[in-house]
Amino acid sequence: MIDEHTLATSLRTQLGGALRREHVGTTVKLGGWVQRQRVMGGIVFLDLRDRAGVVQVSFDPEFASAAAIKLAGSVGRESVVLIEGEVVARPENGRNAELATGEIEVKASSMRVVGPADTPAIPVALGKGETLPSEELRLRHRYLDLRRPELQTNIVLRHRLMQATRRHLSERGFLEIETPILTKPTPEGARDYLVPSRVSAGEFYALPQSPQLYKQLLMISGFDRYFQIARCFRDEDLRADRQPEFTQIDIEASFISAEDIYTLAEGLLAALWKEAGLSIPTPFPRMKYADAVERYGTDRPDLRYGLELFDATDVFRGVDFGITRSAIDAGGRVRGVRIPGGAALSRKQVDELEALAKGAGAAGMLRLKREKGELTGPPAKFLSAEQGAALGIQEGELCLLVAARDHVSSPALDRVRQEAAKVMQLVPTGTLSFLWVIDFPLFEKDPSTGTLGAVHHPFTSPHPDDLALLDNAPEQARAVAYDVVLNGTELGGGSIRIADPDVQRRMFNLLAIDDETAQQRFGFLLEGLRSGAPPHGGIAFGFDRIAMLLSGATSLRDVIAFPKTTAARALFEGAPTPVGEDDLRDLHIRLASNGDGAR
Ligand code: AMO
Repeated sequence: MIDEHTLATSLRTQLGGALRREHVGTTVKLGGWVQRQRVMGGIVFLDLRDRAGVVQVSFDPEFASAAAIKLAGSVGRESVVLIEGEVVARPENGRNAELATGEIEVKASSMRVVGPADTPAIPVALGKGETLPSEELRLRHRYLDLRRPELQTNIVLRHRLMQATRRHLSERGFLEIETPILTKPTPEGARDYLVPSRVSAGEFYALPQSPQLYKQLLMISGFDRYFQIARCFRDEDLRADRQPEFTQIDIEASFISAEDIYTLAEGLLAALWKEAGLSIPTPFPRMKYADAVERYGTDRPDLRYGLELFDATDVFRGVDFGITRSAIDAGGRVRGVRIPGGAALSRKQVDELEALAKGAGAAGMLRLKREKGELTGPPAKFLSAEQGAALGIQEGELCLLVAARDHVSSPALDRVRQEAAKVMQLVPTGTLSFLWVIDFPLFEKDPSTGTLGAVHHPFTSPHPDDLALLDNAPEQARAVAYDVVLNGTELGGGSIRIADPDVQRRMFNLLAIDDETAQQRFGFLLEGLRSGAPPHGGIAFGFDRIAMLLSGATSLRDVIAFPKTTAARALFEGAPTPVGEDDLRDLHIRLASNGDGAR
């Protein structure tokens, strides 16, 4: 922790925002930004802001020259000033309990304007009744936006979390090692950002989607325990919890099992939460992937509330109702969620839930509710009394059903469950529900093409008990892979890696990467694996996501100094930008159009 003198320089004695009662009587030199100014009874008051907060500075004819008072009265908001003065106690009736410095003020003797400011494009401190400008405008003027105390606090917390990470891991024998940014594609499931090479015409570097292959090579090189606060780049569709460039706490270790990684990861997360003043219970509960998807429709369930999904297929098998019949005949199931008290939701509210299910790919959603003992809703009249009872819908409950194949019903019911929890106000605040999701499948089958893709990445070890399945039923094989989930957000994920080059090659073949392509894309890893590879594994945490959750922000943009928009644009500096013909020529690039379509 820094004290108020740590930032002392020849221009200032301390931070004004850190002045308190005990400083009364001291002469200070302060530097900061003019947040607000008022004139009362011939005295000019400035709110002076620096990193530690805001302090009131008064320009009183008794202490300050007429010139200083005039300057203080005319200096523009957000200008940078240097002042000299004395700390005095405020009279009882002049104290401001809302300000940490509210018991004192600085009586200025002189002032210099060292950084005059144009009228600020966006307000830094909101006046009464003023609302925050649009995010677009704030990102455009990010240097002003970053002056807001909320963002300052977030960025300071981010720094502290970063230092806590370094301390925690370094004390446990982890070495911080940097890996290249100009590299080869690493498959993590997103599109690569490519950088053209000037010296090798027609060839491109890829920015790393993660340091995955390098960290494995570092294990092969014998470093044993590695970490990096690594910048990763992924060209994917953006959401509030995704940025095209983001930061991971990336970890790898040798001679390690999944159990060791669980303990290690829980220790690191506990240290980070402690840094933010919170204590978290460890070990975290664990749930198998298959159970998570069956019970919650997702591999990152939010366990702060119930609303578990249930399977009504057996009940509907005997029901002559077209929608459920055709879904079951086509190999689907009837699954749903029962919402206590949901019978009271308006038609519009339920329509909105159905719209979410549709947005997630479902054709529609069936509704049933029990009120005054009676079951109502479109399928109700097709159900016998026993069938109705077998659905287990209690008085006042709304039951929403999706009849479809699992790959459709799971995401649809996940969305419905999450939104229903919000609408019914079932999400407790202040609860931290950490969870390990384990036993992921190794592969996922594309429902339309039938091809296999890696659920994590192609370097993930198959479960040792499932090796035989690779030949006949690879889609049933489990991986030694794990994710950490907090309140429905995926914080991190990792796996034990394939250390055997033959298994790695088989894995590539199953992913339709033939030997030649494997050699060309991952030859360096395969060679490494043949040179004596220790058993190894690791995990990576989304650092921005951790900072976001710990600062109480709802968007990654509020914990990243210069974030991108959802269209992957940097509004402040204005990137990406077109480049000139000459630059393109040097890079051996010719645009298909004149660039108009590129925006
Ligand atoms: P994975 O792809 O799961 O694993 O990434 C690890 C964690 O990084 C965070 N994350 C993101 N955060 C912000 N914006 C994004 N676009 C974004 N994408 C991912 C998530 C995620 O859990 N190499 C493996 C790790 C390993 O196997 O050790 C990897 O990158 O919180």
